[in-house]
Amino acid sequence: MSRITVLGIESSCDDTSAAVIQDGFLRSNVVAGQKVHEAYGGVVPELASRAHQQNIIPVVDAALKQAGIGVADLSAVAFTRGPGLMGSLLVGTSFAKGLARAKGIPLVEVNHLQAHILAHFIEVESEAHVSPCFPFLCLLVSGGNSQIVLVRDYHDMEVIGQTIDDAAGEAFDKCAKVMGLPYPGGPWIDRLAAQGNPKAFQFSKPHIAGYDYSFSGLKTSFLYKLRDALVENPNFIEENKTDLCASLQKTIVDILMDKLKKAAKDLGIREVAVAGGVSANSGLRTAFEEYAQRYRWNIHIPKFAYTTDNAAMIAMSGYFKAINHDYIGMDAVPFSKTRF
Ligand code: KG4
Repeated sequence: MSRITVLGIESSCDDTSAAVIQDGFLRSNVVAGQKVHEAYGGVVPELASRAHQQNIIPVVDAALKQAGIGVADLSAVAFTRGPGLMGSLLVGTSFAKGLARAKGIPLVEVNHLQAHILAHFIEVESEAHVSPCFPFLCLLVSGGNSQIVLVRDYHDMEVIGQTIDDAAGEAFDKCAKVMGLPYPGGPWIDRLAAQGNPKAFQFSKPHIAGYDYSFSGLKTSFLYKLRDALVENPNFIEENKTDLCASLQKTIVDILMDKLKKAAKDLGIREVAVAGGVSANSGLRTAFEEYAQRYRWNIHIPKFAYTTDNAAMIAMSGYFKAINHDYIGMDAVPFSKTRF
C-alpha cells in the first residue's frame, strides 16, 4: 500500500514552521522564530511577513531532510489558511500553492485554531501516546482566543463559550506590561508566580452568563490596584511582584476553570483537553491535574512544543483531511479573523 505523506506549513503569526506526517506519525517539525520583534514589544506584521519569506524555503528543506524524504514523496501539502496576520498567511499559502502546482499534488487547507485542538492527536512512532476520545471538551487559550470547544470529531467542532473582550493570554500580557515585564508577559508571570502567594491580593472576577469569558474587568481591576498602591508606595510593584503575579495567575486560572467545569458538568463530559499558548502555564496545568482527581476527568495536556505555533499540528490536521480526499482548489485565499 502506498504511504500517505503530508507536508504542513504554518505561517499565521511570527513562527515559520514546516512538518511532515507520514501514515499518521510525525516525522519532523521545524520551527523558525523571529527575534526581530523583540525590540518592539509585540509582533510587527510587516516585519513578520518579510521574515517568513526569508525562512520558508530553509525551514521546508530542513523538515523534508529530517523526515528523510524528498518532495517527490509528498502526497499532499497542507497550509494554515487562517486566522492570523494576512501578510504572514499569504507567504505560507502562496508557497503551498506553488509546491502543489509544481508537483501536481493536492492542496489541503487547515484552520489554525482547529489545528491547535488536533495537536492532541500528534503521534511519534516510538513514543507512547493517548489521544482524546470523542466527544471531548477543549479549552483553547492563546494570545488571541479563549474558547471552550465541544469536539465531536476531527472536523466537527462547536464553540460553546468564548471571550466577549480580551483573551486570557492578552490579560497575562497586558498586566505584565503594567508591571514593566517584557513581551510576551505570560511566561514571565508564570515564572514569578512560582515564588509568590496566590492569596496575597484579590482581583475582580466577571459574572457572565453561560460558558463565555471576560477578562477586561480583571485587567482594569489589576491596573487600579497598582495605580492606588503606587501613590502610597512608589516601590509597590518591585516589593510585591511575585505575590502580584501569583494572585493574578490564580484569578485567571480560576476564571478559566470555573466555566470549563460548568460546561463539563452540564454536558456530562469527562474527557477534557487544553490547547494554545496559555496551556504552557504551570498554574493552569496544575489546575487540570487537580480537576482530574476531583472530578475524575481524563485530561489531555499538550507537550510544550505543541502549545505554541507549529506545523506538526497543521500536518496532522491536513493528514486527517487528506485521507478523506478533502482538498481545496488553487483559488483558496487566507482569512484573518477568527472562525471555526
Ligand atoms: O497560541 P499562542 O502561541 O499565539 C497567539 O495566540 O498569539 O499564544 C501566545 C500567548 C501569549 O499571550 C503568551 O503570553 C501566552 O500565550 N503564554 C503564557 C505562557 N506561555 C505563553 N501565558 C501564561 N503562562 C505561560 N507559561
